[in-house]
Amino acid sequence: WPRTSARTDGALTVGGVDVRDLAREHGTPLYVLDEDDVRSRMRDYATAFSDSDVHYAGKAFLCKELVRWLREEGLGLDVASGGELAVALSVGFPPERITMHGNNKSAAELTRALEVGVGHIVVDSFDEIARLGFLAERLGKRPKVMVRITTGVEAHTHEFIATAHDDQKFGLSLSSGAAAEAVRRILALPQLELAGLHSHIGSQIVDTAGFEVAARRLASLLVEIKEEHGVLLPELDLGGGYGIAYVEGDEAPDIKELADGLREIVAKVCVAAGLSVPRLTVEPGRTIVGPGGITLYEVGTVKDVEGLRSYVSVDGGMSDNVRTALYGADYTAVLASRESQAEPVLSRLVGKHCESGDIIVRDCHLPADLAPGDLIAVAATGAYCRSLASNYNYLPKPAVVAVSGGTARVIMQGETEDDLLRGQL
Ligand code: LLP
Repeated sequence: WPRTSARTDGALTVGGVDVRDLAREHGTPLYVLDEDDVRSRMRDYATAFSDSDVHYAGKAFLCKELVRWLREEGLGLDVASGGELAVALSVGFPPERITMHGNNKSAAELTRALEVGVGHIVVDSFDEIARLGFLAERLGKRPKVMVRITTGVEAHTHEFIATAHDDQKFGLSLSSGAAAEAVRRILALPQLELAGLHSHIGSQIVDTAGFEVAARRLASLLVEIKEEHGVLLPELDLGGGYGIAYVEGDEAPDIKELADGLREIVAKVCVAAGLSVPRLTVEPGRTIVGPGGITLYEVGTVKDVEGLRSYVSVDGGMSDNVRTALYGADYTAVLASRESQAEPVLSRLVGKHCESGDIIVRDCHLPADLAPGDLIAVAATGAYCRSLASNYNYLPKPAVVAVSGGTARVIMQGETEDDLLRGQL
């Protein structure tokens, strides 16, 4: 739950605002973001990685207001598309603090990145090295690039979000020699400045051992590059992927320990080879914005399947949170609009979409007296819910409100029926 959440008169409050007031004013479903929580996590990272760069991964959740928070808290930003870049630029985020990612950036996206002068472009393939070299030369630019290295680490997470094993689409493989070849090709292009190496092993990873193995492998490659080419690359980007707690009992890595561990590993490898230690970057997304977000829903129907469970249908579903359907994710749901003394019964929180897989929480316990009109809050939905939202069944995407110090303000408007019909001929 968000750091400022509490119970007052039986109802949940976040940022000092009663969820019943939020629902009345802004409707449901509603994404609620605890601004103080998110900003404090940005500061925690900035402190833990004070001698490094922290680039928030915009894919987790991005809008103009969030970019302003990032700028004020002094963080950098990772973007993975021209659209994400456009959001950042629209509010004057400094381009030199932006890293551009993607395994298939278009020529138009690369051109924009070059023209505005983003700080780094992470190249992901041989095709892209050639494409970027061509575009940089044509535009008379010399971008700083990093090579995305597939380190071969088996990340313990869902298959769809593990990214460091060889048999997937991202990066240049360390074990096959593709990584070394990419370095050779970039060094041969005077219009590209090779600044460093990048690795991202996957997402929602709780065991920090994988991050440490990847960091060691990147640092070792840095040493090999120095030996082979006489070039000491000044930067290592260790990616993001740190897990958060979704249900009681979930573990989450301690950011300070993680930072100290990574720093020590990289320093050890480099110092042993007589090299100075590169500057590190990390790219957390979920850990910054996930815990501070909740989704509010209104209960519409309750169906008891005798002897099994209660199906609680709410007014959203897989269009505002697809993570359960997509990754088998687990969430915590509570009755948020009142306290209940009724016995908790095994329940399944489901949406209003036309499929039985439209599940928000597979198994949870909700009070037996739950009724239409009650509000349900689902915790830790700040990351990868609004950003993965769809208009399935023509549901409008819900608004996002930021709460702080007893007030709420809309930072992304909810879609309307007009929005849904726009652009149709
Ligand atoms: N850096 C790169 C290059 C990435 O690809 C990602 C996430 C991150 C950083 C940030 O990872 P985080 O700290 O947020 O775990 N939709 C999935 C997660 C996909 C993550 C994709 N890349 C989910 O909902 O679990």
